[in-house]
Amino acid sequence: MKIFFVGFMGCGKTTWGRKLANRLEYDFVDLDKVFEEKVGTSITQYFEEHGQDAFRLLESKILKETEYAENVVVSTGGGLPVFFDNMEWMNANGQSIYIKLTPATLAERLDKGKTTRPLILGKHGEELVAFITEKLAERESFYEKATHIVNGIEMTPDSLAELVTK
Ligand code: S3P
Repeated sequence: MKIFFVGFMGCGKTTWGRKLANRLEYDFVDLDKVFEEKVGTSITQYFEEHGQDAFRLLESKILKETEYAENVVVSTGGGLPVFFDNMEWMNANGQSIYIKLTPATLAERLDKGKTTRPLILGKHGEELVAFITEKLAERESFYEKATHIVNGIEMTPDSLAELVTK
């Protein structure tokens, strides 16, 4: 079985992906990390050098390279569900989980520390909340195509495991 975590930057896809993989004894794949390993630079640098369109094309290609993986939990980048047929592809090849959080909670998390995410570089406070509110409104109908929608505050590894195995 394959499980894909989707949702906005900062919602916890990597953290919860890893926890669920441990709980199910599955492999864990972080697509952003695979991307950076493949291209040999950071996503921020790749954006600067090649632009967002090239990034979207390659991240979608890397998603589809998981086709033959078995028993794997995959965390995806926050924009991936919006492009091409990625959401449909994930649902056809496994189950997807949208980790839902409010813009205020996402902003609070994303404002902590130094970000490496190109879309929010230099954005803080109210500007960050406004950006997230607008972007999330654009993206949410894609995220909501997920097989499961979970409240990002209330879940546990056991509740996630139950969701995907019942
Ligand atoms: C992006 C989210 C990032 C990364 C890239 C673009 C987005 O992944 O793929 O910076 O468009 O929301 P995370 O959601 O893992 O931060």
